[in-house]
Amino acid sequence: MARLVVVSNRVGVPDRNARAGGLEVAIRPTLRRRGGLWFGWSGRAADNDPGPTRIVEHDNVTYATIDLRKDDHQEFYNGFANRVLWPILHYRLDLAEFTRRDLGGYFRVNEFFARRLEVLLRPDDVVWVHDYHLMPLAKALRDRGHANKIGFFIHVPFPPPEILTALPNHDQLIPALGHYDLIGFQTEVDAANFSRYIANECGLPWGGGNSFHFGNRIVQIGTFPVGVETEAFARLARRAIESEFVREVLGSLSGRAMIIGVDRLDYSKGLPERMNAFERFLNNFPDWRGKVTYLQITPRSRTGIQEYADIGRLVGEAVGRINGAFGEASWTPLRYINKAHSRTALAGLYRAARAGLVTPLRDGMNLVAKEFVAAQNSDDPGVLILSRFAGAAHECAAALLVNPYDPEGVAIAINRALAMPLEERCQRHAANFKMLVANDITHWADRFMGMLERPPNAGNDWTQMRAAARR
Ligand code: F6P
Repeated sequence: MARLVVVSNRVGVPDRNARAGGLEVAIRPTLRRRGGLWFGWSGRAADNDPGPTRIVEHDNVTYATIDLRKDDHQEFYNGFANRVLWPILHYRLDLAEFTRRDLGGYFRVNEFFARRLEVLLRPDDVVWVHDYHLMPLAKALRDRGHANKIGFFIHVPFPPPEILTALPNHDQLIPALGHYDLIGFQTEVDAANFSRYIANECGLPWGGGNSFHFGNRIVQIGTFPVGVETEAFARLARRAIESEFVREVLGSLSGRAMIIGVDRLDYSKGLPERMNAFERFLNNFPDWRGKVTYLQITPRSRTGIQEYADIGRLVGEAVGRINGAFGEASWTPLRYINKAHSRTALAGLYRAARAGLVTPLRDGMNLVAKEFVAAQNSDDPGVLILSRFAGAAHECAAALLVNPYDPEGVAIAINRALAMPLEERCQRHAANFKMLVANDITHWADRFMGMLERPPNAGNDWTQMRAAARR
């Protein structure tokens, strides 16, 4: 089997006390199983020229990380990736702050990645590049003469061309994806949006099935919804609920039902909207006052960016307003925590919760939703309240699906979740759990790698797979 080389902006180096974002959660088990090389940014911005590539070997995996120069980090990560691409890919044109300087920094850092990666690359390696930070990486490698199989998977949503074309210089960036052999998306909607962009904006000829011609190569397009380690996470949750930490949290609730939300502090997560909905719930269903506590765990992220400071302020204000209006000396309705928690602690808390609130305004997949389902006790499960705009809604169709822009609708769903009879909770949970077992993280990686390593047009089986899991 060819060596697998994974490239992503963040690298889950094992000995770092890593905060695990969705991407790291997805890649780590895949690489541990197959072995290979994981290449990317170290997380450090250097004052001067970055030092040499740092190599760490662990189990079957080689981790290779590079520092970025401060100005590169500013223009590439804080600038183009997270102030332009992130908002646009999440349908937030209003928040995009485009500058040509940041775009230049983005291409420069992709070149730098290619330069440092090629020293480690062997001709028969299969390369799997992840996410919106590295769209032009295949082109940078091809320009340097590398003919490896290269796949690209985008973890975030891919908006319709009507939104994407508002990005200045989109015609420089998006068609460069044609240098990959396979481009993977989270949902069929994302893949269809991309296909429409290719057809409308690039006029590239279609190949057979889901593929198009780019120069002398056929580029495949596929749908690969990221899964979680369903069974392993369920086992972790069974153990974690007995931990001292979870017992202490449960004890502090004095028998009240718990609603849980876990999200990075990001405007795409719909936190102010969710809090407005909780406020509406306390207003419209006063019988629940004093009987339920909503725990929202929200580690800060991308703190160097203004929009993230703004959302932090908005959420803080909402928390203060709600607790001020409804709280009692003996009851705090909303507990808001910025501290990151371990996966074990979260697994136990999910299992202890009566409802999980996952209501992003737009999300590629949302692995919190899937881990919440995996963590439940199948004999007495909590209820997932899930935004219809999260990729996970395509698989977790038995959740209570809500529109996060409709606070009254979300308030009704909270009431319904808390009051739901055991039989209905079990049915909904079983349907979601079955889906997450059928498409766990192993399936995701195997399907992507299978398609990348197979000859073009061998077919994409996602639609059939989903239909089979629903039966
Ligand atoms: O795909 C989105 C993602 O890259 C995930 O890995 C993670 O949820 C988040 O963004 C992490 O963001 P950052 O690397 O900017 O902290």
